[in-house]
Amino acid sequence: MKKVTCTAPVNIAVVKYWGKRNEDLILPINSSLSVTLHQDQLKTTTSIAASRDFTEDRIWLNGKEDDINHPRLQSCLREIRRLARKRRSSGSEDVSGILNYKVHICSINNFPTAAGLASSAAGYACLVYSLAKLYGVEGELSEIARQGSGSACRSMYGGFVQWLMGEREDGKDSLAQQVEAETHWPELRILILVASAEKKHVGSTAGMQTSVETSPLLKLRAESVVPGRMAEMIESIKKKDFESFGQLTMKDSNQFHATCLDTFPPIFYLNQVSQRIISLVHRYNAHYGQTKVAYSFDAGPNAVIFTLEPTVNEFVEVVKRSFPPASNGDPFIKGLPVSPAP
Ligand code: DP6
Repeated sequence: MKKVTCTAPVNIAVVKYWGKRNEDLILPINSSLSVTLHQDQLKTTTSIAASRDFTEDRIWLNGKEDDINHPRLQSCLREIRRLARKRRSSGSEDVSGILNYKVHICSINNFPTAAGLASSAAGYACLVYSLAKLYGVEGELSEIARQGSGSACRSMYGGFVQWLMGEREDGKDSLAQQVEAETHWPELRILILVASAEKKHVGSTAGMQTSVETSPLLKLRAESVVPGRMAEMIESIKKKDFESFGQLTMKDSNQFHATCLDTFPPIFYLNQVSQRIISLVHRYNAHYGQTKVAYSFDAGPNAVIFTLEPTVNEFVEVVKRSFPPASNGDPFIKGLPVSPAP
């Protein structure tokens, strides 16, 4: 028997991916950019065992057996095994034994699955990385993680990561690339404000498919807004310019949710708590006459707050005053530093 265990962190997009041009290969209609969280915070841990005694491939997610025949899971397994065979035939390390074995995969998230906290990103990044370790496959793996879940390709790197949309039909140029390492902006902090840990009503995959089919705003965004925004975002990160980084992050989150409203039937990911957080952030920034705090929301109501270290304590106090703790005593805020991937 051979066993590996790996962890992969969540990433939060500051230029959002929403919409595919190829559903099978998971090729996006626009490039995107994200910040990878710290390994020890919101993460997936995956253990894989390969044994000659196993009669079939199996997978357990958070302790419950799941469908191993899911097409995205099968794409990742097939691609990694193909690379492992290629390696073997080119005379590299002998992995022939385990290539004939079946695998048992066990994956656990330390945060609510499908509550709009990018669980599929960490999940598929971790699966692909663990499989690669098991079979001794090295090199560019973001292309395979992308075939599990689009946003997963960005969790293959730490720090600030862009996913280049690419142009090719076969997706070979649709890859993740590190823009800056996790050490680049040490003062940057991320807070997660948990407005709801419930499973989202409309998943990202189905939601973005309806948006591509029905939203004229999404087409405009992908073609006319995102290319310029990517360039500006990269510049603001390189210069560590929080004023510009924060504004672009909020505008992009707002435009993503505007495309959700422009989708027919409309998709509502934000709730009243999310809206209160948005206005709190704007009031806080207006008080100082500068962008000290920025919000971003993915496909759910939970807020991701970006700020710089000196502002954390004061802003947390402001949030605590505005939102008393839940009746079960759960903290509303989780503080997270930025850090490397798998
Ligand atoms: C709103 O990567 O979950 O979080 O590729 O269908 O698996 P699939 O979608 P997914 O979509 C993430 C959408 C988002 C924005 C982002 O992370 O860029």
